[in-house]
Amino acid sequence: MYKIAVLPGDGIGPEVVAEAMKVLDVLSENYSVKFDFQEFEINSERYLRTGELLTDEDIGQLKRFDTIFLGAIGDDRVKPGILEKGILLALRFTFDQYVNHRPAPLWKPFGRLKREVDFNIDVFRENTEDYYVAVGGRISQGKGTLDLRVKRHLYDMKVRLDVDADAPDDYAFEIGMMSRRNIERFADHVIEYCDLINENYITVVDKANVCSNIYSLWREVWADKCRRAGKQLGFMFVDAMTMALVKNPDRFRVVATPNMFGDIITDLLAEVTGGLGLAPGGNINPQGISMFEPVHGSAPKYKGMNRINPVATILAAKMMMDNLGRRDLGQVIFDGVRGAFDQGVYTKDLGGNATTRQMGDAVVDAIHRMK
Ligand code: IPM
Ligand code: MN
Repeated sequence: MYKIAVLPGDGIGPEVVAEAMKVLDVLSENYSVKFDFQEFEINSERYLRTGELLTDEDIGQLKRFDTIFLGAIGDDRVKPGILEKGILLALRFTFDQYVNHRPAPLWKPFGRLKREVDFNIDVFRENTEDYYVAVGGRISQGKGTLDLRVKRHLYDMKVRLDVDADAPDDYAFEIGMMSRRNIERFADHVIEYCDLINENYITVVDKANVCSNIYSLWREVWADKCRRAGKQLGFMFVDAMTMALVKNPDRFRVVATPNMFGDIITDLLAEVTGGLGLAPGGNINPQGISMFEPVHGSAPKYKGMNRINPVATILAAKMMMDNLGRRDLGQVIFDGVRGAFDQGVYTKDLGGNATTRQMGDAVVDAIHRMK
């Protein structure tokens, strides 16, 4: 029995989560697995009603689950940054989900490149540090002090920034930070994954030619970890990487990236594979509670229209099964999605005419046929 906390979230979140749960229900009917789902209202509606984001009580409750399944968080009525930091990033940081795994296989025939090129890339995005530590603020009149704090499982850090500029302007700061121990454990996880899939080469992304303080530590740890593990590695600057992902995605198999660049290149890569409608992600704490979600957001303008593609969320459920140690069932979901596509069922984003619910039904049917 797996205890799963379900956070449907906002916008189209509840619709796509409902389809993924249909698929999980079919697994429990046909295979030896049982789920205990419990839904939580941790979203913008509750925030607008009560002012609450992720509360201590939520955290206490979520700790009792094996895993977290999330739809999407985001609402136009709320200023950018509040829900993102207050709920989504708060979940990732609170549960110390320091790895963000975003698989990007080419989904034939939906790839968006003009040229036929086959690829299957796993992106691993560091998920708790870099430019996501919120060390920053604004200084007016050129003078002031920022007293900041970064609290993670590995440390509780105070940072003070004293600014004294000779021009009385407004200044804004956003400082990136990485710690050796976090890079080490992140690299260990990526290397372990390489062992699992028998891969010997890791492409490591950064911008060490400009942000050479933060990314020289990153490089130092990666070089050391790969040497010890007998893996080969190649460093790529992120600008060249974006170009290469469009030009020669078949050059890459496992890609490791800092948080911010990972955010950007995984949207790019999702588009190359077939679109955001097909891209899942796992926020992984290898020793704790992980969280699975589609890479896309809450798309409020499509809410309730039964037209959004649920496959990214269904594939997030596949990753959740893999993570719970049931790779056999993860494979069933993957084959179900492939089977539905092969029957010619797909949603508008992919040029088809299936609705959200018809797409979920087609995956369910494909799984039934496989039995
Ligand atoms: C993502 C999103 C989030 C991120 C935002 C909503 C905080 O873009 O999951 O890629 O930047 O990580
Ligand atoms: Mn993103």
